[in-house]
Parts: sequence; structure tokens; C-alpha cells
Amino acid sequence: MLIPLLFLAIAISSSHGQFPRVCMTKKALDSKICCPLWNGSPCGTTAQRGRCLDWESRTFNLADIQYYDDRLNWPRKYFNVSCECFGNFSGFDCGKCKFGYYGAECNETKTLERKEIRQLSLMERRRLFSYFNLAKYTTSKDYVILVTGDRHHHSTYKFINATVYDVFAWIHYYSMKPILKNSTFFSKNSYAHQGPAFPGWHRRLLLFLEREIQELIGDEDFALPYYDWSHDETCTICTEEMLGSSDLQGNIDQTSYFASWGAICSGYFYIDAYCRSAERNLNVENLLRKPGRDPTTRLPTHLDVKETLKWEKFDTEPFDRTSKHSFRNALEGFLNPLDGTTMEENMHNMFHDYIGGTMGQVPISANDPIFVLHHAYIDKLFEDWIQKNNASSDTYPENIHPGHEPRECAMPFFPCVTNKHLLQTSINYGYKYK
Ligand SMILES: *[C@@H]1O[C@H](CO)[C@@H](O)[C@H](O)[C@H]1NC(C)=O
Ligand SMILES: *[C@@H]1O[C@H](CO)[C@@H](O)[C@H](O)[C@H]1NC(C)=O
Ligand SMILES: *[C@@H]1O[C@H](CO)[C@@H](O)[C@H](O)[C@H]1NC(C)=O
Ligand SMILES: *[C@@H]1O[C@H](CO)[C@@H](O)[C@H](O)[C@H]1NC(C)=O
Ligand SMILES: *[C@@H]1O[C@H](CO)[C@@H](O)[C@H](O)[C@H]1NC(C)=O
Repeated sequence: MLIPLLFLAIAISSSHGQFPRVCMTKKALDSKICCPLWNGSPCGTTAQRGRCLDWESRTFNLADIQYYDDRLNWPRKYFNVSCECFGNFSGFDCGKCKFGYYGAECNETKTLERKEIRQLSLMERRRLFSYFNLAKYTTSKDYVILVTGDRHHHSTYKFINATVYDVFAWIHYYSMKPILKNSTFFSKNSYAHQGPAFPGWHRRLLLFLEREIQELIGDEDFALPYYDWSHDETCTICTEEMLGSSDLQGNIDQTSYFASWGAICSGYFYIDAYCRSAERNLNVENLLRKPGRDPTTRLPTHLDVKETLKWEKFDTEPFDRTSKHSFRNALEGFLNPLDGTTMEENMHNMFHDYIGGTMGQVPISANDPIFVLHHAYIDKLFEDWIQKNNASSDTYPENIHPGHEPRECAMPFFPCVTNKHLLQTSINYGYKYK
């Protein structure tokens, strides 16, 4: 199908994510076509980088049509027609390279190394925090975020500016909204949580931030660090030299950049709304951190990590928070990793609650950069497991949970990358762990 040149904007280079600013026009939304120009042609067709594709034929399981949720069968509630990029090209307009590929022709490869944060030099750490801060205060040129007070009516949806870091935090928030099923809410699992998509989706989310920071600072070698908490009894990076210390109220010390960061989409519990607070900067609370303050929490231990990695099945029926003998569910932290059957809080979930404050409010937790370091460690454990078990996309289980189906595109990313595709070694995404 040949698509007329609908888009006025000369697409400046643009990468992956949500929502591409150039596509959030009335015209594009009405026509349901998102094929931005790259170098003068939609999806870089002339340069053979990609094509504008009607994904109709790729639609799977539409038995789910009763779910009126805008994220279902991504991105079909917004666009039927969008870019498919060829070879090593990627991005919503195919103007970028796939992760791990570089150069104007995307035919060079490189493997970045993600290090433990305590392995960074003082200088590297200072730079890292200043990059986070730059991302926090630079308006994203490529993406806008969705806000509405009424999720049931698409006519109320608004797309507004946000900073690069806030787009990242918003994506995580967006994934955790209860699923809208025919005007009621279905909360058995959320898009990126409580199911097999959990580790792969978060991997994609971190890649988004890593790439955005690389572009912002003009350094394609920038790699996110991780925080291995498994040998710590307390949060040893919650200090002035590192991520910032905090007082009894949870406020971060004033010497840290993060002391003044606001948490976008606070007030997340209004299930009918999407990030209402961002619209007029309402109720934006500052980051709060209360590590270890809740005596019912603790940091997961080295033994918990070891026991988590022993589970050989990636995930098990019923593919939700009650799955037993499941690596995914042990890692996510709904399962006792030792016996694989007792439901308890551990691992990923426990760290969120141990840090408390903003991190403890999981939908908005990505506002705190400690989320990035925590999830990079969870991703490292995911990678350890993949390598140990020689896992690949074929390992991803068939299941019919919205947001977790193997062939469903991970939302809200462009171009489509399926959930099952996100289960493969990180080398294929251009990075590894030290
Ligand atoms: C997009 O696809 C849906 C589902 O196939 C179809 O109902 C709808 O008419 C299409 N919209 C446009 C604008 O083509
Ligand atoms: C959705 O709700 C409407 C109105 O309550 C009802 O008529 C319809 O049968 C429901 N559809 C499904 C698939 O449950
Ligand atoms: C992608 O990059 C690889 C590695 O440099 C190269 O060998 C391959 O030819 C590229 N693929 C395409 C389709 O350009
Ligand atoms: C990448 O493609 C360009 C243009 O076709 C070519 O000159 C160059 O040698 C290629 N590089 C690699 C590493 O294949
Ligand atoms: C949104 O950001 C764009 C790009 O930086 C800018 O041109 C535009 O003026 C901004 N709009 C508002 C309402 O701030």
C-alpha cells in the first residue's frame, strides 16, 4: 500500500518511543497513519531503510476486542499504519539504528559494557548524575506524553511536552495503569508486570533511556550502570557521594541534584486518569526515599539471588503473580525463591519497598534514578539466567494475557518489537554486563 506524504514535519533524526511528536497531529490520528518522513520519504523508503506498512495482517488474537484499553494490540488503537524498518534500521521513522548498531549505514557493531556503579570513578559518577539531571530538564524533541482525566473517552486525550527523563518515567507509569476491559478494570496483571513480559519490557525501557541520554550528550558509548544490592544490608548508594542521602521525612539532601526533582504523574492512583498532574504541573511532589525505614522490608540477599537463578522454567501457568517454580515470578518478587511455591515479597518487589517513598509507589517509581540502577541489576540477573539456560525467543511462553502475548508489540514503543523478541541475550541488543 502506497502512503501519500502526509507529514509536514521534516523528520529530524528520531528514535524509538512514545508518542512520536510528529505523529500526534489530528490528521495522523484521524487517518491512523504514523509514517514520518526520513530524509524526504516516509519511513526512509527512498533510502531503503523501511516502509510504511499496514499492520492489519499482523493483528493477532482479536478475541480481546472487548478490551477497550488504548494500549491493547499496540499500536493499533492509535495507528493501523506505521513504519516497518529493514535490516539494522530502527526508530519510528527508521532514521535510527537498532540497538547495538552504529554508523550512518547502521552496519557497524559495538558492545557496550554496563558496570556496577561502585566501579565507576568519582568523575564518571559525577558525569552520570549530571547526565540524568540534563535529561530531567531537557524537553524531549521527539516525544510527547499522553494525559487525560478520562481514559474512557479518547476525545479527551491530550499529548503534551515532557522532558527526556519524564518521558521515561511516564512510559513506566503508563504500563502500570489497570487494563480497561469494556469500561471496567481488570487488574490481574498490568502491561509490563505480573506476567512473562516483565523482564523483557523493562529491558526495552532501559534501552530507551540509555539511547536518549547517548543522543543528548552526543556520546554513543554511554552505558547505564547497575546497583548490585545483593551483598548489602543497607542501601550503600543512598549516600551523599552517590544517589543522595535522605532525612526522616524522605527528602533527599540538598547537595544532590535529585533533591529538587519532582515526580511526574504523582496522584497515580486515579484509575480513570492518565498523568493528570502533568497537565498543569499540579500536585507534583518531590522525590522521596526512606531506605530501610519500614521494618517489614529488607534488601534481598545473595542467597535469594542464587535461588532465583536456579529455576529453569522461564515462567509457568497461569503466567501471573501466582506462578510457581517460575524464574520470572521469583525475579519479579512475588515468590519465595527457595521453595518456589510460597507467595511472598522478595527480589525486585522487595527492593522497591525497601527504598520506599517514590520507589515504593511502583507506578511512579521510575521517577527516582535509583530505579534505573535497580532495574539494570534485575536486567543483569535476567541476562545471567538467559545465558545459563541458553534461552531465546522460543523460550517465551504462549499465553493470552493482554500485554504479555508473545507476538504482541511491547507497548508503547515504535517500531514494533514483540514480547518474545525481547527474550534473547543482551549481546543482540549491543550491551553486556561486567
Ligand atoms: C484500523 O484498523 C481497524 C481494525 O482492523 C479498523 O476497524 C479501522 O477501520 C482501521 N482504521 C482506519 C482509519 O483505517
Ligand atoms: C460490554 O459492555 C456492554 C454494555 O454494558 C455490553 O452490552 C457488551 O455485551 C459488553 N461486551 C463484552 C464483550 O463483554
Ligand atoms: C547489519 O550490520 C551487520 C554488522 O556490521 C552487517 O554485517 C550486516 O550486513 C548489516 N545488515 C544489513 C541488512 O545492512
Ligand atoms: C558500511 O556501509 C558503507 C556504505 O555502504 C561502507 O562504505 C562501509 O564499508 C560499511 N562498513 C562496514 C563495517 O561494513
Ligand atoms: C513543546 O516542545 C517543542 C519542542 O521543544 C516546542 O517547539 C514547543 O513550543 C513546546 N510547546 C509547548 C506548549 O511548550
